[in-house]
Amino acid sequence: MEEKTDTSVDFAGLKLANPVFVVSGTSGYADELADFTDLNRLGGFITKSITLKPRKGNPPERIVETDAGMLNAIGLANIGLDKFIEEKLPIIEKLKVPVFVNVAGETISEYVTVVERLATERAIAGFELNISCPNVTKGGISFGTDPAQAAEITSAVKKAAAQKPLMVKLSPAVTDISVIARAAVEAGADALSLINTFTAMAIDIETAKPVLANKTGGLSGPAIKSIAVYLVNKVYNEVAKERRIPILGIGGIRTASDAVEFIIAGASAVGIGTANFIEPGCAVKIIEGIKKYCARKEIKNIKELTGSLKA
Ligand SMILES: Cc1cc2nc3c(=O)[nH]c(=O)nc-3n(C[C@H](O)[C@H](O)[C@H](O)COP(=O)(O)O)c2cc1C
Repeated sequence: MEEKTDTSVDFAGLKLANPVFVVSGTSGYADELADFTDLNRLGGFITKSITLKPRKGNPPERIVETDAGMLNAIGLANIGLDKFIEEKLPIIEKLKVPVFVNVAGETISEYVTVVERLATERAIAGFELNISCPNVTKGGISFGTDPAQAAEITSAVKKAAAQKPLMVKLSPAVTDISVIARAAVEAGADALSLINTFTAMAIDIETAKPVLANKTGGLSGPAIKSIAVYLVNKVYNEVAKERRIPILGIGGIRTASDAVEFIIAGASAVGIGTANFIEPGCAVKIIEGIKKYCARKEIKNIKELTGSLKA
């Protein structure tokens, strides 16, 4: 079948060739997936969270498979800003797709320092603010569960990001996700990404102890997909649509049909996470599948699909 669909997406001032990202923490910093897939075919790439200082993260066990997904309690282990600049930026410079650097921290000034240092780097297209990590004791999710704190950190980081777009990554672990989404957008967020993982637990019944050393971890994968689709649709209807803020839909996407569900729900782009561990090349397959779907449905421009949910 002849492909006629324009799959390019305008995303927070950036032009993406297609709407498929690989997301933070599942694809390394830059080239770790390069042996398995052609990263330049993606719509965009999001790095593992970077903090000002290197972090060892939590002790093992840090990962456990569940029935329809996994729990992780990595605890934001990362090489820190200096090493990132020294070792990873030169690789990122060679990538042809827009790269968002995901930033985390314990204090607002830590986030601001990281973003300020990177704001002038040409290789970086934008920033993703991680205010939704459930696996750290300080910072992380606490900024993402209180609207006043979400607004304060978003506006401080937005200033530090200068001309580069800022995407704010939301946690599902709140009473009303739209309240946090609205706070972030009113404080200057150019895009929203959702969702991060749900706090969850697995128990070894022989020892009666939690499987993860951290006791709890973040649940991701197919188990969370339907909740993520619902939350994307809710934020689209209640916050993003009228303000024309693009949403990056994330949560359990494994196939092109999963991705299309998120786009119909209101996402302008989608992010692939846990599925990369099962099949590292799946993002490219998903792009091809979305194109086939659009051709079959005679959709000329993928933008028509965003928020096209019928009653
Ligand atoms: C092993 C692992 C590590 C992760 N690390 C990060 C991280 O450093 N920063 C972040 O914002 N999200 C992180 N996430 C969350 C993912 O980016 C994504 O939001 C979540 O897993 C839901 O998508 P999925 O179901 O497609 O995996 C991590 C997820 C996993 C499974």
